[in-house]
Amino acid sequence: MKRFRQYRTNAAVRDKYADIHLNAQDFIYPYFVEEGEGNVTPIPTMPGINRYTPDTLLDDVKETLELGINKILLFGVIPTSEKDEQGSAAYSDHSLIVRTIKTLKEKYPALIIITDVCLCEYTNHGHCGLLHDHDVDNDTTLPLLAEMAYQHALAGADFVAPSAMMDGQVEAIRKKLNETPSLKTKILAYSAKYASAFYGPFRDAAESTPSFGDRKSYQMDFRTRNQGLEEIAADLEEGADWTMVKPAMPYLDIIARGKEQFPDIPMVSYQVSGEYAMLKAAAQAQFLDEPRVVYESLIAIKRAGADYIITYYAKEWLKKWNQ
Ligand code: PBG
Repeated sequence: MKRFRQYRTNAAVRDKYADIHLNAQDFIYPYFVEEGEGNVTPIPTMPGINRYTPDTLLDDVKETLELGINKILLFGVIPTSEKDEQGSAAYSDHSLIVRTIKTLKEKYPALIIITDVCLCEYTNHGHCGLLHDHDVDNDTTLPLLAEMAYQHALAGADFVAPSAMMDGQVEAIRKKLNETPSLKTKILAYSAKYASAFYGPFRDAAESTPSFGDRKSYQMDFRTRNQGLEEIAADLEEGADWTMVKPAMPYLDIIARGKEQFPDIPMVSYQVSGEYAMLKAAAQAQFLDEPRVVYESLIAIKRAGADYIITYYAKEWLKKWNQ
């Protein structure tokens, strides 16, 4: 008989044997930015999460930095009247995100800014690329994603994060960035991004629900065992610096296998809006003990192999519960 209980005798002994720990630097905190001034707009399906205008964002980022979080991920939310077929507001040189990056960098030069590169928040049809006969056209979307990433890079983004799931998007962006060798912007590829119902609350937050159909012709089918790993390999070959598995909790197997196959590549996982909403709702109903389930879920993501976790819980965790 092996006496495993010797590892669990009391808190000090358990702490000694624990080999997975969470640090503020493991977290990437997502932000929704909207046009305007002075507003903080709560997102009903994501209690505790808001949309900020560039000025109120500055204040909130101050607190984020003070908590020790030095990496943020930006999403732009624009008025419906500014959306068009091509998502032009996404790749203009004075887009909402371009202006936001500049404001943030001026005030917090050490902040690491990652930007989401996708058209769905900017197209009037809500799809992630250009439409052709009611289908999302891969190759004509690529230059637009490349231009969007390039504008973010010029403004000072540290990472661009293509999330449209177009084939070849990383290569298109890498080539465009390489045209200006002084740019040091890296690529965090949303490599294994599944067509997930767990994105529901995000689409309310970002007003990016597709006006028809779904995203299953470009985001991954979760009924596949190996495609996620093939997507990661392809992105790395195309020039991605960091890779991502998304969502997180239902895809721990993919995180683990991805990390095993590419141990030297930073692995990011995204605990998405639906995962957050699910834990929040259960906590609000007093069905679950929130700090404990949040801790357990974040540790699980890290134990699976994630080096960094994008989570809406990052601030709350560090502020209230990190012992
Ligand atoms: C943009 C994008 C989405 C998310 C991140 N980037 C929405 C989607 O693909 O529908 C989801 C993030 C979340 O649910 O928290 N394409």
